Amino acid sequence: RQEPISDLLDRLSEVVPDYPKPGISFKDLTPVFADAAGLKRIVDEVVAPFAGEFDVIAGLEARGFVLAAAGAYATGTGMVTVRKAGKLPRAVFTEEYLLEYGTAALELHTDDVAPGTRVLILDDVLATGGTVGSAVKLIERAGAHVAGVGVILELEELGGRKQLEPHHVHSLQLV
Ligand code: PRP
Repeated sequence: RQEPISDLLDRLSEVVPDYPKPGISFKDLTPVFADAAGLKRIVDEVVAPFAGEFDVIAGLEARGFVLAAAGAYATGTGMVTVRKAGKLPRAVFTEEYLLEYGTAALELHTDDVAPGTRVLILDDVLATGGTVGSAVKLIERAGAHVAGVGVILELEELGGRKQLEPHHVHSLQLV
């Protein structure tokens, strides 16, 4: 019988107390990525609900790149990089989002997704939803459609899912 995905994540991830600051427990997924069966399982499961509904996968810098590249390769689609401001070399759309202190911005090349393309967004963690929310705006500014949002961990109390309505959000584990 196949191990439940939540058990796999608990077995392979490492919880780091007081990171990045006192009182916060950080669930580090790098050991899941490093495990052959673990990587295959999380990538397959995060894209599965969206089968047939997307043409390309967008990965959010940095850990979202891992999932999006693997998911695109596995499903025979292309992969688009949504990057932190200043990293992409050509013309970009820019969307700011709020951090706990201050703002940050994500960028997308204006021609990396064609109008009408159905884009699946992947990232490692959904917290407040600010990061994914700005990726949604970038994709919509390109004239493309958001097919859905897949994440490994959802920090449920921070309300990201509500922030992203009406988009279909699929997470593998609530934490
Ligand atoms: C983390 C995480 C998500 C984001 C979630 O990224 O990887 O992208 O925060 O938070 P939110 O839902 O509140 O926006 P981080 O900004 O630490 O970047 P990194 O992946 O480049 O380390």
